[in-house]
Amino acid sequence: WPSLYGRDVLRLADLSPDDIVQLVQLARDLKQIQKLRIPFEPLKGKTLAMIFEKASTRTRVSFSVGMQQLGGHILELSPTTLQISRGETLEDTARVLSRYVDALMVRTGPHDRLESLAEAATIPVINGLSDDYHPCQLLADLLTLYERFGTLNGLVVTYVGDGSNMANSWIEAAALLGFGLRLAVPPGYEPPAAVLEWGQSEAKSRGGGVYLTHDPKEAAVDADVIYTDVWVSMGQEAETEARLTAFAPFQVNRLLMQLASRHTVFMHCLPAHRGQEVTEDVIDGDQSVVWDQAENRLHAQKALLLSLLANPS
Ligand code: CP
Ligand code: NVA
Repeated sequence: WPSLYGRDVLRLADLSPDDIVQLVQLARDLKQIQKLRIPFEPLKGKTLAMIFEKASTRTRVSFSVGMQQLGGHILELSPTTLQISRGETLEDTARVLSRYVDALMVRTGPHDRLESLAEAATIPVINGLSDDYHPCQLLADLLTLYERFGTLNGLVVTYVGDGSNMANSWIEAAALLGFGLRLAVPPGYEPPAAVLEWGQSEAKSRGGGVYLTHDPKEAAVDADVIYTDVWVSMGQEAETEARLTAFAPFQVNRLLMQLASRHTVFMHCLPAHRGQEVTEDVIDGDQSVVWDQAENRLHAQKALLLSLLANPS
């Protein structure tokens, strides 16, 4: 497996294309091992601490279960009961935790908060979602695509909706792996120009491309994947009304799916807001792979934990 021993993974671009492909391969093997119920506990004696500054179902449970399946322990630390809540700095917290545990998974808002924490920590820090990136979700999504299509070569992924943390991570995936990504976002909700421009040039140099449009129908035609995310991300609740109006034409519904093709899969990182970004018939329909994606969080993160924590010697 890729030797990521001791590294931080704050965004997909912290990994090389080879690392990503090897992580996906390892995740497939770990999934097989798990399905066969073969005990495999290489992380015995290791502890992962997790801090969630935002809500979570999948990330929380899949990291916990994954670490335990690999023989390790988890420690979930609530930010409200840590001394951070009384003014201890994030950096000092990271220094102290580095003396007790082997890795830290953090879900927070500002990405630079995560970077400061990782800078101070002497153990691997994993981004469990920030306002800007969600690399663990992408690893699971790529595993799902490999399972469905056998390859990423030549695939066209259409991302419809917000230029959010998910969109940024998709741009990084297309940039690193060189597949085709079409982003259909409302005016004013584009991903940051720097991420987009970097992604466009990197993807092109690897035989793919990143294309931005404001027209979801144009982006859907003949796509292999239609992907969406919530219209109101965690922390954006005050913008709900404006967002629901701006995003209304960007709903993934049967009409949009029909513009793609019969083999097109529907993907969503979840949680979904049924009736907003996706209709019930699409998310529950036979082209939807959302539950595979959710399951694959477990296998992909086990691959990541193993690569970061298992001593290479
Ligand atoms: N997709 C995802 O990260 O889900 P949670 O917010 O439930 O962890
Ligand atoms: N963009 C969403 C993703 C949730 C997994 C959010 O940040 O809330």
